[in-house]
Amino acid sequence: MSHSLTLRRPDDWHLHLRDGAMLRAVLPETARHFARAIIMPNLVPPVVTGAQAAAYRDRIMAALPEGMAFEPLMTLYLTEDTDPADVAAAHASGLVKAVKLYPAGATTNSASGVRDFARIAPVLEKMAEIGLPLCTHGEVTAAEVDIFDREALFIDKVLDPIRRAHPGLRVVMEHITTSQAVDYVTAADESLGATITTHHLVINRNHILVGGIKPHYYCLPVAKREEHRLALVKAATSGADRFFLGTDSAPHVDPLKEHACGCAGCFTATNTMSVLAEVFEAEGALDRLEGFTSLNGPAFYRLPANEATITLTKGDPVTYPAKIDSGDGPVTVFDPGFPLHWRVDA
Ligand code: NCD
Ligand code: ZN
Repeated sequence: MSHSLTLRRPDDWHLHLRDGAMLRAVLPETARHFARAIIMPNLVPPVVTGAQAAAYRDRIMAALPEGMAFEPLMTLYLTEDTDPADVAAAHASGLVKAVKLYPAGATTNSASGVRDFARIAPVLEKMAEIGLPLCTHGEVTAAEVDIFDREALFIDKVLDPIRRAHPGLRVVMEHITTSQAVDYVTAADESLGATITTHHLVINRNHILVGGIKPHYYCLPVAKREEHRLALVKAATSGADRFFLGTDSAPHVDPLKEHACGCAGCFTATNTMSVLAEVFEAEGALDRLEGFTSLNGPAFYRLPANEATITLTKGDPVTYPAKIDSGDGPVTVFDPGFPLHWRVDA
């Protein structure tokens, strides 16, 4: 039995770093193990233009502690007023690696998102032309649609029509939570990829709701039935190269999680690699962990895989802090509910 595993340094293809004190607190948690991350643009106000993305990248680099290496891969928040020329310039300069589509009202800070999809057609056309991927928050938002059905409906109502209208467009269906999404991505051509979070490989909706409500397991898209979690585990550990890690690590301070109207988001940056090692080991798929965390994402984004490595070593349970201090208040670290035996040496 192998007790040590060396992987190319992983990347996180969906990450929330926030800004200010929270940024300074959470950035080292990611940079400790990860080389790069696709940085979500849902700040308040959102990161809409190339100039805003450049300024945000500079704030991220200024927040990086001495001696740590990390490359933020910036994204733009797609609005109905996004200028295709600005997107193309931000891509051409090497700054922006994706554009993020939030249906208006789908999740945290998504009020500026898209209502009328016809209005974004010129931007999508330009992105298809220049090879810039579209990242999608895959949930419809109509009030009458049940929250557990929102992802599956997004595939039929939004994603498939967009992909048919823009055949050259490369799309990432982010933080997938359903077997329908796994099936859709598996059946699609190589222009479609999907990220899977750490927490959706571990929890189902019972973890949120049985035995008292657990606000730290509440995120969007919300975790679904166990059969869906099993489909995600199968996809992530299958070796299929169109599935890759996007943690969606999304910090909120405890008072805003443990609240009458609690924020959505699980904070997984700190212990993700140890959690994933347990999940992949349980499936007998440790040899496929590197593909999921370190190879499939760069291949989809047409970037080189990292040359640096990390080593995971199995031994006595590793402890991670239950909370980190953000300066704005404590942020609870995701509790997988099982012991973690894999230590990470970066
Ligand atoms: C994210 C956040 O807090 O910004 N929350 C979440 O539950 N995942 C937004 C998002 O990615 O949906
Ligand atoms: Zn997210």
